[in-house]
Amino acid sequence: MKFFIDTANVDDIRKANDMGVICGVTTNPSLIAKEGRNFNEVIKEITTIVDGPISGEVKATTTDAEGMIAEGREIASIHPNMVVKIPMTVEGLKAVKVLSKEGIKTNVTLIFSANQAILAAEAGASYVSPFLGRLDDINQPGIDLIRTIAEIFDIYGYETEIIAASVRNPIHVTDCALAGADIATVPYKVIETMTKHPLTDQGIAKFQADYKAVFGE
Ligand code: E4P
Repeated sequence: MKFFIDTANVDDIRKANDMGVICGVTTNPSLIAKEGRNFNEVIKEITTIVDGPISGEVKATTTDAEGMIAEGREIASIHPNMVVKIPMTVEGLKAVKVLSKEGIKTNVTLIFSANQAILAAEAGASYVSPFLGRLDDINQPGIDLIRTIAEIFDIYGYETEIIAASVRNPIHVTDCALAGADIATVPYKVIETMTKHPLTDQGIAKFQADYKAVFGE
């Protein structure tokens, strides 16, 4: 399973990229707003850090296909690695159809059912983003959705890749890997937590103590 980082914070993107574990970035309107920076400016900076797919979402206030198509073309023109993130609606699917025919990559977001994922794949989406954590939040096991989509895409040989989104903790990551997600998009805090284990810390402390006892500093 591949990893993307789910943030518009360039410091976190740099840290994860330096670790060598991420090969892409996803953003959304809330993440861009959190940074309080101009969309184009922050997206351009991200393209200088990570050489891989970077999802930039159409404006949250754009709901018609024509508007999403126009914005999608602008987003795609920022950099060849750009992926246009489009919400799962009838208008969104129309936009995906047009943009994908133009060779523009798309990521259909806010996927909460297998049927939505099938429709997005049929419309030509490069990626679908099922939201694991938000389903868990309403007492529906999000991981079941990831597993079901992976199974369906496998049966029919869809090339659309599954990005497990709304990943909130390290257990989600393991579950996504087992469920067959192609990619997990993960906040920096979760990536950092994944590196940790108390026995690793204890082991390092013991190696240091044993070494210093014989060889000094
Ligand atoms: C990524 O594509 C999504 O926008 C993101 O993972 C949503 O995460 P959240 O549910 O924690 O806001």
